[in-house]
Amino acid sequence: MSIKRQLPNPKELRELLKFKKPELDSVKRRLNKALTIDDLRRIAKRRTPKAPFDYTDGSAEGEISYARARQAFEDIEFHPEILKPATEIDTSVQILGAPSALPFGIAPTGFSRMMQTEGEVAGASAAGAAGIPFTLSTLGTVSIEEVKSVNPQGRNWFQLYVMKDREMSYSLVERAASAGFDTLFFTVDTPIAGNRMRDTRNGFSIPPQLTAKTVLDAIPRPEWWINFLTTPQLEFASLANTGGTVSDLIGQVFDPTISEADLKIIRELWPGNIVVKGVQTVADAQRMVDAGVDGIVLSNHGGRQLDRAPVPFHLLPEVVSAVGQHTTIMLDTGVTNGADVVAAHALGADFVLVGRAWLYGLMAGGRAGVDKMIEIMDSEIRRTMGLLGASNVAELNPDHVTQFARLAPRNTTLSTKH
Ligand SMILES: Cc1cc2nc3c(=O)[nH]c(=O)nc-3n(C[C@H](O)[C@H](O)[C@H](O)COP(=O)(O)O)c2cc1C
Repeated sequence: MSIKRQLPNPKELRELLKFKKPELDSVKRRLNKALTIDDLRRIAKRRTPKAPFDYTDGSAEGEISYARARQAFEDIEFHPEILKPATEIDTSVQILGAPSALPFGIAPTGFSRMMQTEGEVAGASAAGAAGIPFTLSTLGTVSIEEVKSVNPQGRNWFQLYVMKDREMSYSLVERAASAGFDTLFFTVDTPIAGNRMRDTRNGFSIPPQLTAKTVLDAIPRPEWWINFLTTPQLEFASLANTGGTVSDLIGQVFDPTISEADLKIIRELWPGNIVVKGVQTVADAQRMVDAGVDGIVLSNHGGRQLDRAPVPFHLLPEVVSAVGQHTTIMLDTGVTNGADVVAAHALGADFVLVGRAWLYGLMAGGRAGVDKMIEIMDSEIRRTMGLLGASNVAELNPDHVTQFARLAPRNTTLSTKH
């Protein structure tokens, strides 16, 4: 068969030759290449010294808890509903008495300025701009008051470690309350420190030390070190002026004697919502509801504490059926895609938190990197909801998701409690 040919039409050629203007801003150029959270992680890894990157990326012991949590999100099947017209997709939710523009928020993480110098300022301001909550850790590197000043209209949450020095802990509760933070997370999965092998192997210390190894590692990552050396010293902003060294402080943070009695005291001190973070069994979820908390976070601390801990996403349906009518259920650990957030909501979670995802964004590009993380998750959430036929978060339901079981207990009859 002969094909009819013609000379190229100059007008058509001109249309084809529309080159994109080069992006002159190097941060934007770098971030434009990121389509997924995993892409942000790769950029973060390239730009951050090995020890702080591994501190963020790693988990405890054999890192099995985290791998299983990731696997659990991969092992789902979505069931779309067809021919359900939706012109707009509403991703907003009401959470603990106020709105969030997206069905996830930023989890508390310590030492954030060590990952990238903008730290919590980048996180809180990006969260504020996107209309989602930001959670400041007790081990934050920007003060309660500064977080409020960079996110004055948005929602700020505070995460409390009840430390050996109870008075110091209570003073943080009071400061967060007077700065207008609306929710307090009481983290309960850290009676002692988890064993993070990567940190031991890297000789990781806070603040990072200049050794022969770290100097070599710094050569391809000059910007991080320039930032580190030319911006205010890294310190635990909420815990400043307490005397003692950084390692003294860390030793103070984990206290094996914390108990429900502490919960009662905090309840008295805190006027807002109280959420217990680190619930890992159905029985404990029930116990916390009986203790009168406003919410729980199903979490194993991103796999950074007890290894081979329950996978929060696996625990979710049972906890929802036991206490979903009586409390707010949040979930974290292993969320790296907007589709993970959608799956958690479909199975009954009221809200989702992201830890590493926000820090990968931060390390990849400071504030612009956190904006990019939120933008990626936002578009993944919208796309997944659109393809499922859900025009708002409330329409997501268990019929949309099947969880595949890769592992199942060999013998449940021996269990007394779970
Ligand atoms: C670098 C890092 C520091 C963290 N610091 C804290 C903390 O100070 N307090 C806390 O309650 N949880 C902390 N977490 C746990 C997170 O709040 C969250 O539970 C976890 O990161 C969720 O898992 P994901 O990283 O897979 O999203 C930290 C997590 C990371 C990665």
